[in-house]
Amino acid sequence: MASYWIETMGCQMNERDSETIAGLLEREGYARAAAADAADVLVVNTCSVRENADNRFFGLLGHLKAVKDARPEAVVAVCGCMMQQAHIVERIREKHGWVDLVFGTHNIHELPEMLAAAGGRMPPLHPNEAAGDGAAGRGGLRGKVHVRAAREAIVEGLPARRAYGFKAYVNIMVGCNNFCSYCIVPYVRGREMSREPEAVLDEVRALAESGTKEVMLLGQNVNSYAGFSGRSVSFPELLRAVDAVPGIERVRFMTSHPKDLSEDLIALFERGAGGAARGRGLAHLCPSIHLPVQAGSSRVLARMNRRYTKEAYLRLVEKLRAANPEIVITTDFIVGFPGETEDDFAETMDLIERVRYDAAFTFLYSPREGTPAAAYPDQVDEAAAHARFDRMVARLNEISLEKNRRLVGRVEQVLVEGPARTGEGMLAGRTFSGRLVNFPGEKVAPGDIVAVRITDAKTFSFGGELVE
Ligand code: SAH
Ligand code: SF4
Ligand code: F3S
Repeated sequence: MASYWIETMGCQMNERDSETIAGLLEREGYARAAAADAADVLVVNTCSVRENADNRFFGLLGHLKAVKDARPEAVVAVCGCMMQQAHIVERIREKHGWVDLVFGTHNIHELPEMLAAAGGRMPPLHPNEAAGDGAAGRGGLRGKVHVRAAREAIVEGLPARRAYGFKAYVNIMVGCNNFCSYCIVPYVRGREMSREPEAVLDEVRALAESGTKEVMLLGQNVNSYAGFSGRSVSFPELLRAVDAVPGIERVRFMTSHPKDLSEDLIALFERGAGGAARGRGLAHLCPSIHLPVQAGSSRVLARMNRRYTKEAYLRLVEKLRAANPEIVITTDFIVGFPGETEDDFAETMDLIERVRYDAAFTFLYSPREGTPAAAYPDQVDEAAAHARFDRMVARLNEISLEKNRRLVGRVEQVLVEGPARTGEGMLAGRTFSGRLVNFPGEKVAPGDIVAVRITDAKTFSFGGELVE
């Protein structure tokens, strides 16, 4: 039986897209291969958000060349965000002309036809030459480049091979209109488009019926969801409907842009002292929010085109904690954005003290070709940026550990995900608020929700024991 192998880089959107790619391939009769070396079709779904993502891809391509040399009949396909950039496709054409197929983020649904055209074993159809980005037809990738500049519509009804049975990603929208000045995503994912509420709900219902307990609603900025079903449907309204689907016990979402975080959404987090939903609070909405701040200096935020100030962000945090004092708040930071001074950085450190995040991702600023910030003249010295990065991560980690220690002794409902990385006989799972807990256990299966007492707090995870 023919087989496929797929490597996914980047964010949850890409992971979800890879589930669709795998679903399409399985519908065509391919089975999942254990390793790249054995597969007939090899797919790399790429990310372009920072330079090291690009570098990882070109590193992997070197390895796949060896597979292709050993088995020339294998089809190597590369797709995803990097392929939406002309300079990347050009580089592949010039230096990696042996690649069989290049496609973008807007036409995954055409995979069977594209693969057939590239020499895969599917029924041959006409290669989509017209959809090329200009690099098609020249050099080593003749007829193999299928990249579209934009998306016409969201294609519904595609198959998916889901990564888990008990939890699932559900896209509610694609694209981004925000154009933060450092970010490549709006260029590679195109304009914002929301799925119809009924399409989202049908997917959630089908998932629930097949045993899914937790859904993560995905969008680059879920707060600007604008569904339409006879009338416009907002994100809080969609959440309410998803929360009510029988069988769904946990609802999460990602990502929220602070500029669009509404009072209506905050109200959905309302919970009483015992943790039960109160007021307009939703029973299954997980008490956690990823609210990327990027920087604490309002001057830097303006240059990032984030369209909120430090003060406005702090007010949001206050409101979220008023709705639910226990809400887990996590964030993203970019360190060393062009023009960031020591004073600006001090504002970020001050914001960290005020918010006291449960966890945070910190990224060194990475210039992305074609974005406004890459052309700013005042790029920050690398050594200075690294020094700030280290100071910041050290403080963020201290705070995480301090906060985590307070949870020792508590009993939490943990959704079991599978074997833990911490050793034989250990299981890993997540609390309702999304905290990672490792605990010894048998007779417990992935997807079970069990009571676990927290016995130990680390910076990024917890140790626990099953409560009989
Ligand atoms: N849509 C989400 C973010 C998607 S990208 C949002 O707006 O919140 C995930 C994170 O990558 C961003 O939050 C940002 O912190 C980081 N990031 C994006 N572009 C970057 C760049 N050029 N350099 C460094 N970090 C970047
Ligand atoms: Fe990038 Fe900003 Fe869009 Fe997030 S909101 S994907 S950071 S442009
Ligand atoms: Fe990367 Fe594309 Fe996601 S650039 S972060 S995979 S939307």
